[in-house]
Amino acid sequence: MTKLDQIRAAEARLLLSTYERNPILFVRGEGVHVIDEQGDRYLDLLSGIGVNALGYSHPAIVETIVKQSHSLIHTSNLFFHEGQAELALRLTERTGLDRAFFANTGTEAWEGALKMARLHAGALRNEGKHIGTRFLALEQSFHGRTFGSMATTYKAKYREPFGPVVPGVDFVRFNDVADLRAKFSNEVCAILVEAIQGEAGIRPLTQEFLNEARALATSTGALLVIDEIQAGMGRTGKWCAYQHYGVQPDITTLAKPLAGGIPMGALLCTEEVSRAIHPGMHGTTFGGGPLTCAVAIAVIDTMEKEGLLAHATEVGDYFQAQLRSLAARHEAIVDVRGKGLMIAAELDSAELAKLTCAEMLKRHIVINCTSDTALRFLPPYILERSHVDTAIAALDEIFTEHAAAFSGAHAAADHAAGGQNHG
Ligand SMILES: Cc1ncc(COP(=O)(O)O)c(C=O)c1O
Repeated sequence: MTKLDQIRAAEARLLLSTYERNPILFVRGEGVHVIDEQGDRYLDLLSGIGVNALGYSHPAIVETIVKQSHSLIHTSNLFFHEGQAELALRLTERTGLDRAFFANTGTEAWEGALKMARLHAGALRNEGKHIGTRFLALEQSFHGRTFGSMATTYKAKYREPFGPVVPGVDFVRFNDVADLRAKFSNEVCAILVEAIQGEAGIRPLTQEFLNEARALATSTGALLVIDEIQAGMGRTGKWCAYQHYGVQPDITTLAKPLAGGIPMGALLCTEEVSRAIHPGMHGTTFGGGPLTCAVAIAVIDTMEKEGLLAHATEVGDYFQAQLRSLAARHEAIVDVRGKGLMIAAELDSAELAKLTCAEMLKRHIVINCTSDTALRFLPPYILERSHVDTAIAALDEIFTEHAAAFSGAHAAADHAAGGQNHG
């Protein structure tokens, strides 16, 4: 029995059955490569689902973890340490918001955002304004798997098995301004969006839709809350994807790459929103600990020192251009979307998308498939053009070998079935 087989058997016996893992045992990583127990190197174009922005074993992260763990790993939020204000300063400067709260995951940051929106509306009601408690979220949205996040996540498969979900959420059709206007009223305390939807297959909001969401929220005192957990922290070439639109939210949430692989989430909000909260109303044991903050500071400083936002734009544009020329040769690719290093290639068949991910893995390249038909690329920001060329050559080979078997009838059947997200 191999070590992998032993681990698989033990997990099957001991863990909750929540993941369908690929049969690979990773033991270490270097730069854009992650390496299995046999020493095989995989080009990682997913970076732990958008987390390992600096790649693997970046010296800035390794040295910070070693140094900080010698001094202080955890203190609790009952005391001060050096990191929180320093990190908050960096994040407020880069997001255009005023105050931060640190959590441990994306979904926890999002729960905090929902709570702040309800608190803020309560404060307005106390001033005599008429504003309700409802949320408007978007169809195809994904905000996480805890109860509030789940209630604001669109896909039924994430919500229905756990019902009844938190009430008070209506879903607006994606990028449908008329539907947004029709569903908005002063019963709404916040409009919730991802500027570029991630799990939905890398789908950007239109400028018109985001402008309208901002204008409607401002008209009643409701909040515009933008989830940047997947798109934020430089992935699209700007610190936040909303900065491509020139639209400023009242609250944003960050997580995934924030602390380079150490779990961390953050919510940032305006001074005005922050006035609604007081000590004891919200908190966490671990959030914003000294180790996590030190690593997040190192991640931000390294991104700037190494010019990684500009690099993400440059290599991302190259990646998209190469995917487009691939699409010109293979009809199976029906769309290429994204910004910076948040990219999707939409295929005409869910079966082909699944097979493509498996074939890429056989060729030692990690990608994934989301929203059934979208191949998703969320590589480390240190990706180079040569890595893109490797991936494109592999995709070319796979489509040349396999695409014909999935065209026509297969594609039509997939579209008719509607599809379900892989999460
Ligand atoms: C946009 C968005 N929001 C929230 C989440 C939830 O984050 P986490 O898995 O860290 O709880 C995700 C995770 O994929 C996400 O992409």
